[in-house]
Amino acid sequence: MITDQLKAILEETRNQIKEATSPERAEELRVKLLGKKGQLTEILRSMKDLTPEERKEAGKAANETKANIETLIKDKMNELKDAQKKLRLHAERLDVTEPGKWPKIGFKHPLTQIIDEMTDIFMSMGFEQVEGPEVETVFMNFDALNADKFHPSRDMTDTFYITDKTLLRTQTSPVQARTLLTKEPPMKIISPGRVYRCDTPDATHSPVFHQVEGLVVGEGVTMADLKGTLAEFAKQMFGQDTKTKFRPHHFPFTEPSAEVDVSCFKCGGKGCKVCKGSGWIEILGCGMVHPNVLKVGGIDTEKYTGFAFGIGVERIAMLKYEVDDIRLFYENDERFLKQFK
Ligand code: DAH
Repeated sequence: MITDQLKAILEETRNQIKEATSPERAEELRVKLLGKKGQLTEILRSMKDLTPEERKEAGKAANETKANIETLIKDKMNELKDAQKKLRLHAERLDVTEPGKWPKIGFKHPLTQIIDEMTDIFMSMGFEQVEGPEVETVFMNFDALNADKFHPSRDMTDTFYITDKTLLRTQTSPVQARTLLTKEPPMKIISPGRVYRCDTPDATHSPVFHQVEGLVVGEGVTMADLKGTLAEFAKQMFGQDTKTKFRPHHFPFTEPSAEVDVSCFKCGGKGCKVCKGSGWIEILGCGMVHPNVLKVGGIDTEKYTGFAFGIGVERIAMLKYEVDDIRLFYENDERFLKQFK
């Protein structure tokens, strides 16, 4: 009887073990059969009712069955653990010969590069860099700079107004007024930054662009200092052979005022596509600071004089790199920007 039961158990175990797919399942089977409350343990316990003769035989059979089951489970367990290990090793495989992933390293935007180049040149001449706000008062942007009440640039169609009294600065020149109000002469500052105008974007216009403003105030500052400073800037920026030409012009905040041309850095002055055949390229506006502007800053105009200049960054970048559409600078197309790496 008991031997039949044992046979049946062994047979069933064999099948179940065959189907086990994890070591956990094999362990479960072991507990079910051989554990304290396991099937086999139950059978061994029930042997106490047998005669000593029967018990001896049944005991032997039970021990054999137990040993068989243990071996079955142990073998299965080993087999499953091996398989698991193989899987894990495969998943954790590390190919040390695989090429690394290179991080993409950024670089400065071409306009930033030009601004850096300009500020480096002026810093080497002893200028200090200052900042001004892009949201500016109408007073600083126009009135303090001696702009006529009816100056066309004040028009709503030319300037982005925020309120009656505030606007997006149309030029970096208000930094002049702010500096005059906060610093004592002598002063020598430059201020690069963004400016805004109501322009529809096209190849040469953008509603946002950049300027670098310059201001020098001190005792005995003359037009000769202005010319010397800007001629040196042009040489460092465009090459030592660069010549400068000062053409009379008008700005409200300077008197006299001038526009500065440099000899074409592409053709050296012979005439080419970059300089449109003239041999000269206009690069900036400048002049001697108007006494009215100095007065707003509380500067003694009997004692001090000064000069100022404003340079368009995009214009210089476009000339230098022969870029024919200003919009390329703002589109963030990597194919364009990569050229300036
Ligand atoms: N603010 C002028 C503009 O936006 C540029 C300029 C001209 C600035 C002459 C100056 C200057 O400081 O002296 O067109």
